[in-house]
Amino acid sequence: MEYPFEKILITEKEIKDKIKKLANQINKDYKGKNLIMICILRGAFVFFADLIREIKIPVELDFMAVSSYDSQTQSTGNVKIVKDIQDTVDDKHVLVIEDIIDSGYTMLNLRNIFKVKNAKSFKSCVLLDKVDRRVVDIQADYVGFKIPDEFVVGYGLDCAERFRNLKDIRVLQRSYYTK
Ligand code: IMP
Ligand code: MG
Repeated sequence: MEYPFEKILITEKEIKDKIKKLANQINKDYKGKNLIMICILRGAFVFFADLIREIKIPVELDFMAVSSYDSQTQSTGNVKIVKDIQDTVDDKHVLVIEDIIDSGYTMLNLRNIFKVKNAKSFKSCVLLDKVDRRVVDIQADYVGFKIPDEFVVGYGLDCAERFRNLKDIRVLQRSYYTK
């Protein structure tokens, strides 16, 4: 494979199949409920766009941007809202859509934010889960793939804003971001 990728970790087809399964579950779990799905920008935008098109129940959509990283690959624990959602959620069941859960700081902060916003319920759906990297005690409610502790890019995930456009998920060579 061409520089700077080590390998393809998850193929386009595998992602597509998994999204159908996740959406089926969401369709069942939220039937008859006032659902709002919130895309966490920017990493989740590709996943979000594919997932919502498999949702068959009525759903509101919104977008939120948070930033948690000081450097390119290290989490800090502090999450700030860069762009907030447009509406109130006190009469809605919130399902946050994220690209990846790593240390868990982002998700923990999001859960607290929606508690303050008085959401009817809060759940999360992540495409990727780096289980071994968790620092805070939080799980995602819907998980696409559990992955090892490697830095991945593609399908919305970036390294310094690059590679979001790849159709699959790839492991980035360490030398690319450590030099
Ligand atoms: P956490 O707060 O440490 O759980 O980090 C979550 C955020 O870290 C995600 O939304 C991503 O933006 C970023 N992140 C963590 N691991 C990776 C990775 O392997 N590739 C790209 N972004 C990552
Ligand atoms: Mg992100």
